[in-house]
Amino acid sequence: MRRGAIVRIAGIGIVIAIICLLVAFLINWLPDSASEQMNRIEDVYWFATFICIGIFSLVMSVLIYSVWKFRSPPEDESDGPSIHGHTGLEIVWTVVPAVLVIAIGILSAVVLSQNGSAGTNPMTIKVFAQQFSWRFEYPGSNNLKSFELVMPVDRNITFQMNSADVIHSFWIPAMGQKQDLVPGIKTSIVITPTRTGTFTLVCTELCGLGHATMRAPVRVVSQAAFGAWVKDQQGSSSGSADAAAVFQSAGCGGCHAFTPAGSKGAVGPNLDNVASDAKKAGEDPAAYIRESIVDPNKVLAPGFAAGVMPGNFKDSLSAKEIDALVTYLSEAKQ
Ligand code: CUA
Repeated sequence: MRRGAIVRIAGIGIVIAIICLLVAFLINWLPDSASEQMNRIEDVYWFATFICIGIFSLVMSVLIYSVWKFRSPPEDESDGPSIHGHTGLEIVWTVVPAVLVIAIGILSAVVLSQNGSAGTNPMTIKVFAQQFSWRFEYPGSNNLKSFELVMPVDRNITFQMNSADVIHSFWIPAMGQKQDLVPGIKTSIVITPTRTGTFTLVCTELCGLGHATMRAPVRVVSQAAFGAWVKDQQGSSSGSADAAAVFQSAGCGGCHAFTPAGSKGAVGPNLDNVASDAKKAGEDPAAYIRESIVDPNKVLAPGFAAGVMPGNFKDSLSAKEIDALVTYLSEAKQ
């Protein structure tokens, strides 16, 4: 009789465990890992998931068996037997969860420490965040700046984070690591990409009205292609910038409506009206636009407050990019 009960409980438990494992494995819960750090984070997830499935199956099998086996017939109004305490059982259900939670804690601490280590000879990329754009600077390469994050595969990369205004958060889902960028504090994070491809960097800290638009393209390429890209970027500093791309990547559309760019931001003045705003301020449109980018608080469009538009675009954008934006905005059909 007793053995029969254990066999039935075990049978129910195995069925539940199989269903849980199928749900865990057959559905793609996480993006395909693209970094060493994400591989380790996935190890922790799976470790915790297997423990959860084991405990869940055990509890549910005993529960289902008891409901089925010991249910009272409809006419039975009597109370059940009064049972008070069971020291052995209490020790087991205290010690087992304690051991499991400590095991998860130790594994997490090991992974956290490994994921924070940059190893030997890491490459350093500086990250600059501001409402609502990302910019990357590659040291040791003539201050090469880019709106696109390009990384060589299989290289330890340390990101040094800077925020110009509020708290943002750096996250490439397929690479796992996530780090806040806090004004006034230097934060950093390590990523070692394991496969080439294109990804997206998203801001995961609510940082204002344009938060949802604060994204940047990410590309992981071979070591050779990375070297070629750096050379190409340095060479292209003599060419002209693509204004629409600058408008997009500098985050202008997060705050400004501008029909040619398809943006609808309402934090700052509508740029479809920039020529008439310039006329009201008594200035030539091109000069007015340039001044508004470089020194946004000097002349304010009516109804808009000072200090809202970041004042650092003269540093974060190259002269060529500012020229391109001025032409783009002043030549658009009004
Ligand atoms: Cu930056 Cu959200």
